[in-house]
Amino acid sequence: TTALATTLVAGSLSTQVQAEVDEDTSVWSWEQADKIERTDENTAPQISEEEIKDIAPDLHVWDTWPLRNRDGSVARVNGYKVIFSLTAKKEGVTPSERHGIAKIRYFYSKDGKSWEMGGLAYDPEQALGSRQWAGSAMIDDGKVNLFYTATGRKSNETKTYEQRLAKVSADIETNKDGVELTSNGDHEILLEADGEHYQTLEQSEGKGVIYSFRDPWFFQDPKSGEEYLVFEGNSAGTASEQTCQPANYGSESFQQTHDAPEDAKLYNGAVGIAKKGEDLSDWNLQKPILEADCVNQQLERPHFMVKGNQYYLFTITHKFTFAPQITAPDGLYGFTSDSLHGDYKPLNDSGLVIANPENDPLQAYSWVVLPHGEVSSFVNKYNTEDGEQKFGGTLAPTLKLSVHKDETKIVNESKFPKIK
Ligand code: FRU
Repeated sequence: TTALATTLVAGSLSTQVQAEVDEDTSVWSWEQADKIERTDENTAPQISEEEIKDIAPDLHVWDTWPLRNRDGSVARVNGYKVIFSLTAKKEGVTPSERHGIAKIRYFYSKDGKSWEMGGLAYDPEQALGSRQWAGSAMIDDGKVNLFYTATGRKSNETKTYEQRLAKVSADIETNKDGVELTSNGDHEILLEADGEHYQTLEQSEGKGVIYSFRDPWFFQDPKSGEEYLVFEGNSAGTASEQTCQPANYGSESFQQTHDAPEDAKLYNGAVGIAKKGEDLSDWNLQKPILEADCVNQQLERPHFMVKGNQYYLFTITHKFTFAPQITAPDGLYGFTSDSLHGDYKPLNDSGLVIANPENDPLQAYSWVVLPHGEVSSFVNKYNTEDGEQKFGGTLAPTLKLSVHKDETKIVNESKFPKIK
């Protein structure tokens, strides 16, 4: 009966999805991605060692997001800004092991430049998942809503890559000495991959580079007032049955002159979306807004910026998650449309918005675009002056992006990890 109930729920969800969204899922095609190249407009300056300031010397710090108001503006709580970061203790933990023990901590700042550590955002014993991955945070009516990824399960003996979208709330108190968050412990699962619009871990058959159903990002659509979670997923379907479709190639002339390698079909990154129902616990999956089938496996931490009439959809991805026929750097990629559900076109024709410099290609990652075009990220594997590669594990200097119609340009770098 449980299986039957699940089928029925999935069935009714899909009918609702079809009724709600008419637009086709937009496609990031091989032809578009084939145009990716570093230019003066999209290449970030090299981060110098003096610019790297450990905000928590005993911790690896990586994916970071600011506490925002419901409308997406960065929140100020009695003069304080608050950021949330994935963290793991440094001692005895290599940078690659950090993902396996990630927990969310918060930091606060009055000037948005120097950050004090507040502590864990919740009691890890009560949190869902054997580790907690990226998400978003929104404050309304004095209550903090933290959306996060519950990865694996505490009950599993071995680590699994199952990912579910979760939420917990917290009270926030401030005084002259700082900010204190007290989690209410009300952790709940909001969404799981349904197998129909988003691939389940089982359907992935362990074949892709890495499976994803994660990184929930809260978004209030300023045009309609409707609220959504956008997230990273994989296009649904059994991995071994997926094929590259003509649209994944691009124009007809491109299709006629190109042949995707056998493995390309295993790359099926998608930007997912779910619409809020009655309250912040009630979300309905809709079909993906963007798919990169046969192009890229991971469209991570998707989020929006809205400017004028345009939606700007940003996502981060790695060189190693592009399909084998595409050479493109770790970077921030973006797409634009005048309607929320698309049709999305890549920014700057190819999608590339920010790349690391060629001689330091892994220096930063996990860029997130703030409402006025500031871009925050963390220092990843950078090259020291002695030519050694080191893991930064702290906030990177903030970049400023100018965005005009379907074109972007890096216009400035602040010397600080500044959240404006
Ligand atoms: C991006 C990312 C996120 C994920 C986290 C895991 O850097 O891969 O998608 O939530 O890191 O550490």
